[in-house]
Amino acid sequence: MEPFTTRPSPQLVGGPGSLVELPACVRKSGGEKVLLVTDRGIVEAGHISRATALLEDAGIACSVYDGTSENPEESDIRAAMEFARKVGPDCFVGLGGGSSMDTAKGCNFLLTNGGAMSDYKGYGAAKTPLLPFIGIPTTSGTGSECQSYAVISRDQSHEKMACGDPSALATFAILDSDLTASMPHKVAVLTALDALAHSLETAVSTRRNSFSSAYSREAFLNIASAIEPVLRGEASGSERNAMLMGSAFAGLAIENSMLGAAHASANPLTASCGLAHGHAVALMLPHVIGMNEEDTEARETYAHYGTLLSSCCGVAWGVRPWVEHLLALADLSPLAKCGVDPSLFSELAEDATRQWTGQFNPRSMKIEDFTVLYENAFDGGAAQDAR
Ligand SMILES: [Fe+2]
Repeated sequence: MEPFTTRPSPQLVGGPGSLVELPACVRKSGGEKVLLVTDRGIVEAGHISRATALLEDAGIACSVYDGTSENPEESDIRAAMEFARKVGPDCFVGLGGGSSMDTAKGCNFLLTNGGAMSDYKGYGAAKTPLLPFIGIPTTSGTGSECQSYAVISRDQSHEKMACGDPSALATFAILDSDLTASMPHKVAVLTALDALAHSLETAVSTRRNSFSSAYSREAFLNIASAIEPVLRGEASGSERNAMLMGSAFAGLAIENSMLGAAHASANPLTASCGLAHGHAVALMLPHVIGMNEEDTEARETYAHYGTLLSSCCGVAWGVRPWVEHLLALADLSPLAKCGVDPSLFSELAEDATRQWTGQFNPRSMKIEDFTVLYENAFDGGAAQDAR
């Protein structure tokens, strides 16, 4: 393991009903005039009226931007920023899924530092500190509330850009599992599988360290304990809480150790073929695990996670067969049924090699390797050995 320095975490406020802490979090962040960033579905679920009532009762001014789009692009962030410029907030709140939180963060970059989102691709390009930001997830997937990055896509190519800065990190993240009860079943399934992929990719990433590994393990244990009921649509309140904790722990792990080839191979499927992020990541995950098992340390980590799985959930089959079992339970359409043409594989594979996140995969990945991954994931068969 290489020398490391851990990244800071937001202050975490958790437990069912913890949304009531929002006004105190805003005050402690120095805010008096909030811009709440969300999407229409979250408004319709009633979460925004509750949040604005809490803020107004506490004497905190609040405006709502509900124009967030799924997989936000640069033009979406510009539109949010035009709204924010008129409002003049001193604090951002992102309430929703990863897209709402990333739109709030992206808007924060442009409002405080100007320019375009592409100016902030990478880490640490902001010249002026961003305004305080509070993340409130309503899904258990991205862990964006614990990350100092906004993932924003380019307008034309849909290429995902990770735009990070130390001051983009939330001052507070409110983890209120009452808010995740409103997720449509399909969203709950895809975000749960994405969070599982986060726990497993961070566990073997070349950037991992003792602290990120602890986050990955805790994420995995929480997620493993609850994911089957989530996939069956039978999750209890405590299981939804475990998923939300798992997703936040996985977000902390990503912040400290990055991801790997499942995300690198999934991003082109989202950009070029329109697959939802969680769907694409989930389809690729068992095949990436199969390929990564060629790496001794990764194989040992998966074996260790297999023992965790056995002790926490009584599943003795090992990680990769268990992930395949979850995919079958989720009944996800394989690439062949998602309109992905095999003639695109080499192009997709080339794109995958350009994904920043793939640099941290334990086994180095070339175009040929990504092509094999896509071939293996095409018809939804069980993961095969890499060669
Ligand atoms: Fe993800």
